[in-house]
Amino acid sequence: MRYSRIAATGSYLPAKVLTNFDLEKMLSTSDEWIRERTGIERRHIAADGQTTVDLAEHAVRAALDAAGCKPEDVDLIVFGTTTPDLLFPNCGVLLQARLGCRGVPAFSVETACSGFMYALSIADKFVRAGEAKRALAIGAETLSRITDWTDRSTAVLFADGAGAVLLEPAEAPGILSTHLHADGAYSNLLYSGGGTDLSKPRRAITMTGNDVFKIAVNTLCKSIEEALVANGLQATALDWLVPHQANLRIIQATARRLDLPMERVITTVQDHGNTSAASVPLALDVGVRSGKIRRGDLILLEAFGGGFTWGSALIRY
Ligand code: UT7
Repeated sequence: MRYSRIAATGSYLPAKVLTNFDLEKMLSTSDEWIRERTGIERRHIAADGQTTVDLAEHAVRAALDAAGCKPEDVDLIVFGTTTPDLLFPNCGVLLQARLGCRGVPAFSVETACSGFMYALSIADKFVRAGEAKRALAIGAETLSRITDWTDRSTAVLFADGAGAVLLEPAEAPGILSTHLHADGAYSNLLYSGGGTDLSKPRRAITMTGNDVFKIAVNTLCKSIEEALVANGLQATALDWLVPHQANLRIIQATARRLDLPMERVITTVQDHGNTSAASVPLALDVGVRSGKIRRGDLILLEAFGGGFTWGSALIRY
């Protein structure tokens, strides 16, 4: 039996920081409201001309450096994003050209905030099937480009960033299991136009926040349970929960229901905002590089987003 494991992680945040106080000058909002309702204090915004693939390239090179690998060692790229540089070619292909690993399969998955969970699950299966040796699973976004900066209900939430993991074959399971789901019946609660359906508002993120909040908490708890049950484990066995960073209240509610102390939860939402597909791999990399997450730790990753799509993964790091 062949397994996959995370060889290394990497992430990148653009230099420009936008604080809640900066937003107070742009919108009818307050630092107090944003912190109390979301936990967000600041977020990073891409520079003019900086694209999703630009951010992803930095994150991937950091992961490759940490693994002691070269770009030409990569033989699969799975790229989760909702803010692609172009309609086509996909971001995976654009990144492949930058890395120089020509000829290897490269594609994007557009499952919104769950983009990385889908990318990880797919990359894991390629490695386990023996069809890839070193596979990149990426989540990267420039959500600032599709944000309506006059809409206070969404502009304070979303931000830019990128995270990546490099998977490699292993004798013992690193990725223990992944669990993906979708329910398109909820597509109207959270979406962004800009595709070929011209009846929808162009580009801007449209969200019925309250409804999304309630469904997110319930669904994420079930998704975590699903991963634990599949592996015959209780939440007490977890060293770390690395959740989707949409809202600190969602993260706290999820941890409370699992009876998991917040000391065992990696939270970056205060510094990163909601970076959609990038949020989980960014938080994972922060956890690893800060020394909190160590080799051998049992980690649960989860995300929920537009679609709705959601997923979890249990990992022995
Ligand atoms: O990543 C994908 C998944 N996304 C999520 O999981 C997001 C889920 N939703 C949420 O995180 C929360 O619903 C929000 C943070 C988006 C909103 O928080 P809320 O506690 O649900 O607030 P609300 O939408 O019920 O709005 C409460 C009040 C409203 O005023 P009234 O009607 O009570 O007078 C809003 O107009 O807060 C007002 N409001 C604001 N006030 C100041 C909404 N946005 C703002 C703002 N600043 N930025």
